[in-house]
Amino acid sequence: EFKIILKRSQREFTVSAGKTIMDVLMEAGVRVAHSCREGVCGTCETRVIEGVPDHKDNVLSARERASNKLIMICCSGAKTDRLVLDL
Ligand code: FES
Repeated sequence: EFKIILKRSQREFTVSAGKTIMDVLMEAGVRVAHSCREGVCGTCETRVIEGVPDHKDNVLSARERASNKLIMICCSGAKTDRLVLDL
């Protein structure tokens, strides 16, 4: 379980185990771009402002992963207690 903070819309949500960031946002009525929802298309790429993502996609390069600046919110999680996203 971890928290996500949407910097631009100033909203905060908890992502519980077994859910994706995208699940939580869509349930809350937050519109997010998506297509495959499996970590392969890259549509849901989101900028990370703070925190360390737990990457589970097949889109980002090793360098992008290591930068901790981007996340695919349909499948990836967090290694930190919270992630601040540019949403
Ligand atoms: Fe395709 Fe997230 S929706 S990578």
